[in-house]
Amino acid sequence: MAWDRFGRRLHYLRISVTDHCNLRCVYCMPEDMTFMPQQALMQDDELLTLVRLFAELGFDKIRLTGGEPTVRARIVDLVREIAHTPGIRTVTMTTNGILLPRMAHDLARAGLQRVNISLDTLDPAKFRRLTRWGRLEDVLDGIRAAEDAGLTPIKINAVVVRGYNDGQDVVDLAALTLDKPWQVRFIEMMPFAGATDIQRTMLVTSHEVMAKLREAFGALDPVNGGRLDGEARLYRLPKARGTVGFISTISQPFCASCTRVRLTADGHLRLCLLREKEVDLLTPLRDGASLEDLRRLIAQSLWQKPWGHGLAQGEIPQDRTMSQIGG
Ligand code: 5AD
Ligand code: SF4
Repeated sequence: MAWDRFGRRLHYLRISVTDHCNLRCVYCMPEDMTFMPQQALMQDDELLTLVRLFAELGFDKIRLTGGEPTVRARIVDLVREIAHTPGIRTVTMTTNGILLPRMAHDLARAGLQRVNISLDTLDPAKFRRLTRWGRLEDVLDGIRAAEDAGLTPIKINAVVVRGYNDGQDVVDLAALTLDKPWQVRFIEMMPFAGATDIQRTMLVTSHEVMAKLREAFGALDPVNGGRLDGEARLYRLPKARGTVGFISTISQPFCASCTRVRLTADGHLRLCLLREKEVDLLTPLRDGASLEDLRRLIAQSLWQKPWGHGLAQGEIPQDRTMSQIGG
C-alpha cells in the first residue's frame, strides 16, 4: 500500500489520456490552445505498464480524464485493459459527453463503471459561449446514452463562472435532480496561470450558489450528515430523487482527506493538482528503467505528496493547464 508522509493512504489515480479536446471551455483553455505532439503522450503500452505498477502499490481506483478522454484513439481497448489489471476495482471517466452516443455502450462493455459529464448550463446559447462552439443537444444525447448503457449513477459537473452561468443556470441545473437520480455538482473554478484570466476574476463560491438554490427551492438537506463524498459535499433539494454537490476547492479545501494523485498526459506523476511538483515517469520508462526501479521511484514520490494547495497564499500553478494535468 502507498502512503504519504501525512498518513494519507493513496489509492486513487486520475490519468489524463490526452490533452486534446473537441471543445475549448473558457475556464479551461485558450481558443488557440497548442496541444502536445503525439510522441510526447504516453503510448498505450506505456500507460498500461504504469497502471500495473500503481496497482501493485495498492491503487484500486482509476479515473480517465483529459482533455477529453473519448478523443483518444483506441480508448475502449485502453479501458478494457485497465479494467482487467489485477487490483483495479473501479474505472470511471470524466467527459464532456459529446462522443458518448457513439461510445457509451462499448465503454460500458469494456468495463467502464461510471461517467462524470461536464455540463455548465442548460441554455444552448450560453453553452455555446462557455465551450466556444459546443452544442448543448450533443451533451444531452450523451447523458441519455450513458444512462442507457448503465454508466450510472450519472454525475454532472458544472463549473460556475461569473457572467457566464451564475444566474438561473445553477437553479435549472439543480432542478434536474428533482426528477433524475443524478448528482449535480457545482465546482469552484480553479486558477492555472496562463490558461485564461477569467479563472481568477470570475470565481463564484459554493456559498453563493447554495444561497441561490435556497432561495429557489427552500432548505437544502445535508446528505450523510454533511460529510464529504469524495471531494463533494452533498445536499438534497426538497423531495428530490438526486442530489446536488459542492466541490469547494477554493473556499473549503478538502486536502486533508485527499487520496489521489494524477498522471499527466505526458507521463508525469503529479502529486497535487494545484502544485507544480511532478515526477517524470515516462522518460525513465523509455530509457529502460526496470519495473522494480520505477515502482520504487513511484513509491518514494508518493511519500512526498504536498500537504495541500497554496491558493490562499497566492500560489497558483504556473506550469500547466487543467487539460494537460487531468481534472
Ligand atoms: N476549474 C475547475 N474545474 C475545471 N475544469 C476544467 N478547468 C477547470 C477549472 N479551471 C473541469 C471541467 C471538467 C473537468 C475536466 O475539469 O469542467 O468537469
Ligand atoms: Fe475540453 Fe473539458 Fe477543458 Fe471543456 S473543460 S475544454 S470539455 S477538457
